[in-house]
Amino acid sequence: MCIDPDLVWDGLMTTTGKHTLGLVKLSVVLTAVALAGTVAMAQTLPASKVPASVTTKAIPQKSPAADYVGNDRCRRCHKSEFTEFGKTVHASLPQHKDSVVGCEMCHGAGKAHADGQEASHGDEAKSAAANKLIFAFKGNSKVNSERCLVCHQSSKQQSQFDHSSHAQQGVACLDCHSIHLVEASDNPKGEAIQSAQAKFFSVPALPEENRWLHSSLLKKNQPELCYQCHANVKAAFALPTHHRVPEGAMKCTDCHSPHGTSNQHELQQLASETCTQCHAEKRGPFVFEHAASRVEGCTACHTPHGSTSKMLLARREERTLCIQCHVGKPTTTALMPHNIQSFQANGACTRCHSVIHGSNSDRNFLN
Ligand code: HEC
Ligand code: HEC
Ligand code: HEC
Ligand code: HEC
Ligand code: HEC
Ligand code: HEC
Ligand code: HEC
Ligand code: HEC
Ligand code: HEC
Ligand code: HEC
Repeated sequence: MCIDPDLVWDGLMTTTGKHTLGLVKLSVVLTAVALAGTVAMAQTLPASKVPASVTTKAIPQKSPAADYVGNDRCRRCHKSEFTEFGKTVHASLPQHKDSVVGCEMCHGAGKAHADGQEASHGDEAKSAAANKLIFAFKGNSKVNSERCLVCHQSSKQQSQFDHSSHAQQGVACLDCHSIHLVEASDNPKGEAIQSAQAKFFSVPALPEENRWLHSSLLKKNQPELCYQCHANVKAAFALPTHHRVPEGAMKCTDCHSPHGTSNQHELQQLASETCTQCHAEKRGPFVFEHAASRVEGCTACHTPHGSTSKMLLARREERTLCIQCHVGKPTTTALMPHNIQSFQANGACTRCHSVIHGSNSDRNFLN
């Protein structure tokens, strides 16, 4: 993990207010020396142009210090959460003096809850009352996500989350991520759920806990995670021609960002650029471009998810795809072998117009 020295400074500034400025400076220097292991390493490398993914900013205490009890107290009653949480990056965030780390950085001060639970001696009503004394992510999705965005707002991937269609439709971080996947610890050897196609293609399945720890703490693997809510997309990927997402060879996030982008449909890149990341030969530039591709993008002719037509074409009969746009243009050129709607042009137009994505030698995409 990269530590941004500015943020270390930031954290210290908020926690050493009682010292004189000189002392603050000195303590910053000393702390920097103490952190030499990490910081010095960063200094020997050329400065990275990419900012650290997430700020390691200290979460300031919102309640009086005495209201925080620390992880050990929580462990006594929440062993599974404690154990699973301990394996994640969140458990080893750098600690700043007077800042909150561990369970309480998300759940808030826990003393009232812990005391209440202890005093309840198993009485259900009292226990239920004590539950209300801790933040448990049961409120609305905006409030829930904000707890995470305190830190993650600064990261490149999540910075647009507030404007994403997910956030706007009330989907929160915890619909996709799990901070302590307790089910995994209950069944450590349990293998991740896989689609029938993935099984057929023998895509390796990790035990659920490994999977979770190594795939951004996701509750489920893609695409199952996304299929839960996007049933229409699941149906599209079940069609005979499709990108191999259900087989596990590609992910939804190769094309989309679940955290939101400024592009339509939360695409990773602007329109066709999303596709030409992989299909680079279709990017051009060509001497003779097909205006359809340039203006409307790949989806003028292809469906991105799945289709009943070959080559993910948007229409089953290729000819009808072309004459959507090439309608009734009078044929005046002497060399033109066909009238577009005539029988001569029956069958696939690409029999002759074989370089349909663009050509460097022929304005009619013949070769
Ligand atoms: C004395 C035992 C005890 C201690 C200590 C304790 N809890 Fe709990 N906690 C419980 C019990 C019991 C429940 C109710 C479980 C249930 O309803 O299934 C609970 C529920 C919760 C919930 C869910 C609340 C809800 O509304 O469903 C959260 C979150 C939680 N605890 C977090 C913490 C954190 C964080 C700490 C440490 C600061 C902590 N607990 C300390 C016993 C304890
Ligand atoms: C990074 C934020 C974060 C941290 C840190 C965190 N939790 Fe949670 N916790 C959550 C979220 C989010 C939920 C809501 C349930 C879910 O969707 O996973 C939750 C739910 C819970 C629950 C209720 C589970 C239920 O079944 O309702 C308990 C108990 C709990 N956490 C205990 C802990 C303990 C103990 C720690 C420290 C070892 C801890 N949490 C640290 C985010 C966090
Ligand atoms: C105190 C700040 C803080 C809070 C609050 C916080 N995170 Fe994080 N989170 C981090 C840091 C720091 C990292 C490590 C980033 C890195 O290594 O680039 C991280 C990493 C992650 C990762 C990647 C884990 C991995 O293994 O790669 C996910 C997913 C994540 N956080 C989700 C959440 C969610 C969801 C919440 C709210 C329930 C949350 N975080 C709350 C600071 C925070
Ligand atoms: C609709 C599902 C979804 C929602 C909602 C969501 N995420 Fe994610 N998140 C993912 C997926 C999927 C990945 C893995 C991306 C990949 O592997 O390409 C991921 C990856 C991450 C990562 C690790 C990669 C990185 O960007 O550094 C972090 C951190 C993270 N999410 C934090 C959050 C936070 C914080 C929120 C809420 C503000 C959130 N996510 C909301 C699905 C979601
Ligand atoms: C090959 C790239 C690619 C992959 C992989 C992909 N998508 Fe898409 N998706 C697109 C494009 C491009 C559009 C816009 C379609 C349009 O303009 O008509 C889109 C549109 C969408 C839409 C909005 C329109 C609709 O059909 O409802 C949703 C929701 C969506 N995708 C979800 C997903 C999910 C979930 C997955 C994984 C199971 C996924 N996508 C995988 C490229 C992709
Ligand atoms: C908890 C339910 C839920 C989950 C899980 C979920 N989504 Fe969504 N998603 C929604 C809702 C609701 C919308 C907004 C309504 C819409 O536009 O269809 C949305 C919108 C989208 C859009 C924008 C569609 C558009 O037309 O602009 C894309 C793309 C998308 N989701 C992809 C994904 C991907 C990829 C995943 C998995 C990593 C995922 N979703 C997981 C509920 C979910
Ligand atoms: C992450 C890489 C990747 C991205 C992004 C991507 N593709 Fe593909 N595409 C592939 C691979 C790999 C294949 C071969 C699939 C196979 O053999 O199952 C393929 C195959 C195709 C095919 C031919 C299908 C067939 O039946 O032979 C078309 C058409 C296609 N992609 C269009 C698109 C479009 C349009 C987009 C953008 C919306 C896109 N691709 C984005 C990797 C990608
Ligand atoms: C004007 C309609 C049209 C547009 C726009 C278009 N394609 Fe195609 N594409 C086709 C047709 C028709 C075929 C089938 C060619 C054949 O049958 O030989 C095809 C085939 C393909 C194939 C599989 C065969 C091959 O040549 O590799 C890929 C991959 C592909 N297109 C990707 C793309 C991408 C990426 C874009 C956007 C940059 C795009 N297409 C834009 C019409 C189009
Ligand atoms: C989304 C609309 C659209 C689709 C679908 C489409 N085209 Fe085009 N095509 C155009 C436009 C616009 C031009 C540029 C016309 C111009 O410059 O006068 C063009 C140009 C051409 C040209 C070059 C000759 C010229 O008039 O400049 C040929 C050949 C051609 N298209 C063949 C095809 C074939 C074959 C298909 C089916 C695989 C197809 N087109 C699908 C819109 C489309
Ligand atoms: C048998 C081969 C062949 C087939 C099949 C064919 N074309 Fe052509 N097409 C040609 C040739 C050769 C030219 C170039 C004439 C010239 O050089 O002026 C041409 C020219 C064109 C032009 C540019 C001329 C103009 O009108 O501006 C368009 C557009 C076009 N074809 C569309 C199509 C469509 C759409 C189809 C399918 C319905 C199709 N073609 C099927 C051979 C074919």
